[in-house]
Amino acid sequence: MSDEKPKEWRTAITSNQDGRILIRGYNIDNLIGNKSYAEVCFLLLKGEMPTQAEAKMLDAIFVSSIDAGIAPPSAVAARTIFSGGNSLNAAVAGGILTLGDAHGGAIEKAAKLFQDELKDKNNIDVNINQMAQKIVDDAVKNKKRLAGYGHKLHSVDPRTKRLLEVAKSLNFGGKYVELAAAIENEFRIKKPEQKLPLNVDGAIAAIMSDMGLDYRLGKGLFIIARSAGLVGQVFEEWMREKPFRRLRSDLHEYDGVPERQLP
Ligand SMILES: CC(C)(COP(=O)(O)OP(=O)(O)OC[C@H]1O[C@@H](n2cnc3c(N)ncnc32)[C@H](O)[C@@H]1OP(=O)(O)O)[C@@H](O)C(=O)NCCC(=O)NCCS
Repeated sequence: MSDEKPKEWRTAITSNQDGRILIRGYNIDNLIGNKSYAEVCFLLLKGEMPTQAEAKMLDAIFVSSIDAGIAPPSAVAARTIFSGGNSLNAAVAGGILTLGDAHGGAIEKAAKLFQDELKDKNNIDVNINQMAQKIVDDAVKNKKRLAGYGHKLHSVDPRTKRLLEVAKSLNFGGKYVELAAAIENEFRIKKPEQKLPLNVDGAIAAIMSDMGLDYRLGKGLFIIARSAGLVGQVFEEWMREKPFRRLRSDLHEYDGVPERQLP
């Protein structure tokens, strides 16, 4: 054991010494060309190489969140920042800053809820349906929005359906996915007038929990995926549009006080 005090800046992720870059101990020379981006992301975040099923699942999660068109807050912000005359990196960073409880950030919150409810309950016989009833009753009573449910456009989120199929085929449709589906079902019973499907964020939250990933990685997974989409959105803005976008006049109005005299 060395008596040397640990240095102030420490990392167990990557060592970069003497011309050798080792990610979690694996030489990057061997990773390049042999391992996929999703596999190395998993290695980086969890410390070990994924199984084939884990790699496939993580890749599917990334694909599900890569882009959702020009309209979500992140794409609007990124393109607007670029349109104001800023660099691609500022625009992409601005897009990422929009990610919060309603957009992308819902993964972290939903995964926290699922993990708080079910973590350390491996050997205990839990009644998932009762648990879901309690969660939805509490949300309805206290007018709380449950992260991972509801969608602006879809009454059934198409990405959720496909992701859950993939999860099931890879054996990641465990107790967390079961709880997520039971909550969706409870919403259907208790709030039939509002369409509150399990959305893609909620599905990712449940699946990542079944994969043993900490809820605090939820937003990070979305950022890794959506950064590619945002680079695409900003690059397209750069190639296609003139600078200085303004809202068209039929899209905005002033509804404050009319012109008045100084007192
Ligand atoms: C995604 C979201 C913003 C879409 O909202 P929307 O379809 O425009 O719905 P509204 O904001 O008009 O809400 C309609 C009603 O449903 C309720 N509601 C919406 N989402 C809800 C949720 N996740 N949990 C509980 N109730 C919800 C609202 O409280 C509102 O109830 P009220 O009419 O009694 O006031 C919304 O469902 C939400 O905030 N979900 C949680 C965050 C999330 O998962 N985001 C990821 C999206 S992919």
